[in-house]
Amino acid sequence: MDLMKAFTWKIILPACVKPKTNRLKPSSMSKVHVSKQNSLQRLALSDVSNPGSPISLHDLSSSLVGLNLHIFTLKELEVITHNFSRSDVVGEGGFGKVYKGFIKENLRPGLKSQPVAVKVLDLNGSQGHREWLAEVIFLGQLKHPHLVNLIGYCYEDEHRLLVYEYMTLGNLDNKLFKNYASILPWLTRIKIAIGAARCLAFLHEEEKPVIYRDFKASNILLDSDYNAKLSDFGLATDGPQGDDSHITTCVMGTEGYAAPEYVNTGHLTKMCDVYSFGVVLLELLTGRRSVDKNRSKREQDLVEWARPMLRDFNKLDQIIDSRLEGQYSTEGAKKLAALAHQCLSHNPKSRPTMSSVVKTLEPLLELNDIPMGPFVYTVGNDDVKRVCGEKNRILGSDENENNRGNKGEEKEEKGRRRRRKGRRQRRRIRVFRSRAVYSDTDLYKALGTSLYSPRY
Ligand SMILES: Nc1ncnc2c1ncn2[C@@H]1O[C@H](COP(=O)(O)OP(=O)(O)OP(=O)(O)O)[C@@H](O)[C@H]1O
Ligand SMILES: [Mg+2]
Repeated sequence: MDLMKAFTWKIILPACVKPKTNRLKPSSMSKVHVSKQNSLQRLALSDVSNPGSPISLHDLSSSLVGLNLHIFTLKELEVITHNFSRSDVVGEGGFGKVYKGFIKENLRPGLKSQPVAVKVLDLNGSQGHREWLAEVIFLGQLKHPHLVNLIGYCYEDEHRLLVYEYMTLGNLDNKLFKNYASILPWLTRIKIAIGAARCLAFLHEEEKPVIYRDFKASNILLDSDYNAKLSDFGLATDGPQGDDSHITTCVMGTEGYAAPEYVNTGHLTKMCDVYSFGVVLLELLTGRRSVDKNRSKREQDLVEWARPMLRDFNKLDQIIDSRLEGQYSTEGAKKLAALAHQCLSHNPKSRPTMSSVVKTLEPLLELNDIPMGPFVYTVGNDDVKRVCGEKNRILGSDENENNRGNKGEEKEEKGRRRRRKGRRQRRRIRVFRSRAVYSDTDLYKALGTSLYSPRY
């Protein structure tokens, strides 16, 4: 598998000062206890990470009590990952390597057997304790169907590890840009955009809002049904509260996704996430990376190249992913382009909120003006067998025909014709085993893939 080496940059601006978040006074901070039910009492990152905080790393576990987070030993994680075997590496970013592992039955009470992803801090890398802590604090406390589930963590000496639910289909970046065998159909792209948008809306609307700060395709993970879940909370931070319009921070993020006003001033708002969301929408629409140094100078920066064409519907087909071969909703593409344009506005105040983004995106799943045509899609053997089974049932198998019995010449002849048709059909289905051909919508009908996920 191709490893993704994300390029994360960090610019320390002269204006780089401590976040202006409203912090609890030390006396009340020591009483902070987390309750899943009451988001008002959610532990903020600043409650733990600031110097002088009364909550030290060692009482982190007691502060997070009730969250069902498991604290693993390094030894346990060695067993889970087969000694951090190189062949089990499923990803790599600025934090370190991510391994696929498996938790066996009876490892510890309350922990079911399941596949997991284990992220290990690279002790020689550019990230460290702050990023690890941010993941524990945010992912440990926030629960949402479109947030990856943090199962537990480990800290022993200088070692810092995180254990997540395993996301079968990996990250969106790989699926969109590196999977040459099959391309993501239009409706799947919309489904992914909706899932990720719901997650950002949830974070922004928390009692203590959270700014994600590193929204990009490689941080959107996919389960086996293409449900999107946000992961990698290393750069997430508590948003402004009360009358504050923004927080001022060191500029951190990923080239090509960060909002221009944040890069220029260090002022971070929820609207910076909305901008990054607009960049990912553009990636889904065009099938191009936010920054692609292999293209001509004019086309290297996706936003710069595509933005002028987003409002001109006559030019839209010049930027839409040609690999879709025209199989997308024209109405949907126009709406998606207009939404991306709004999210990418230079003026943060002109950008939509994430909940309004969700409202704009959801109806795009219902648009059925997608041209039907052959669409090459790779499906697993089991799925093909299920489809074949369906078709055989509809056509009637030899066995069914035999059971019916013969009543007169006419009926027998009809039966023979049906049997011949059935055999022809089965031959055709056999051809499909190596290369299943479906249109986007046919695929979902045939395989019963849940495209319409619960309204979260
Ligand atoms: N739960 C998971 N299930 C499956 N794969 C995962 C999981 N978590 C991470 N990965 C894989 O590992 C990659 C890197 O993970 P992640 O983004 O969390 O690391 P990072 O070092 O924090 O990245 P960055 O460089 O963006 O800061 C992901 O893009 C994904 O391919
Ligand atoms: Mg990442």
